[in-house]
Amino acid sequence: MPKLLDLATRRASIRAFSRDPIHLADVIYAIRVAHEAPSGANRQPWRFLIVTDDHVKSKIRHVCELAEREFHKIAPSWFKNWLRDKGISWRKPFLTDAPVLVLIFFKKDEPYASESTWLAIGYLILALEERGLASLTYTPSRSEDVNEVLNVPKAYCLAAIIPIGHPLCRKAKEPRTPLKRLCFLNTWGNPLTESEEGEVKLSG
Ligand SMILES: Cc1cc2nc3c(=O)[nH]c(=O)nc-3n(C[C@H](O)[C@H](O)[C@H](O)COP(=O)(O)O)c2cc1C
Repeated sequence: MPKLLDLATRRASIRAFSRDPIHLADVIYAIRVAHEAPSGANRQPWRFLIVTDDHVKSKIRHVCELAEREFHKIAPSWFKNWLRDKGISWRKPFLTDAPVLVLIFFKKDEPYASESTWLAIGYLILALEERGLASLTYTPSRSEDVNEVLNVPKAYCLAAIIPIGHPLCRKAKEPRTPLKRLCFLNTWGNPLTESEEGEVKLSG
């Protein structure tokens, strides 16, 4: 059984999926894990919509690509450059290629609804990794358009669409900033000195 750190290190956002089918039971397992996340006042503001139907996937892709075309025209130049370097365009083939999409919504009037739901999304993508499934955290430019085509009640906001499946090819993990530049001990700027085994050496 891989440790959580191994799963987190192995997981990478995948944007090109094979059309090979997957077991829905694995997706439901990941949703069960997500549902165990903490939430503000335990209100569990998340809702999950599982989409396997090709026609529904096409409708989602259509409205997302219309909005992405507009967004790619007006995005700030640093972001346009980053998108270009990553080979990300307004085209979103993963919305129809991935065998399963999970759309995650939150009920807007619940306390810390967005924060709680994003925690659940973190649980979900790690649980998918545990089951050997690839995923992407996709945040559509105009989530309201997706809600409209799916007849989602006004009280709910779409947080993310997670395409799930097998990758067309393995990709290198995007690098992380060394932790010692981001994590401090006791005072801001005081770095952690960590042994190879992750043991923290405390001075004094
Ligand atoms: C809140 C959030 C929104 C994201 N939105 C998108 C998105 O709309 N499209 C996309 O291709 N990737 C999206 N991503 C994926 C990130 O680009 C990706 O996680 C990041 O580049 C690090 O790569 P890794 O996930 O492979 O480690 C999003 C990730 C997060 C956490």
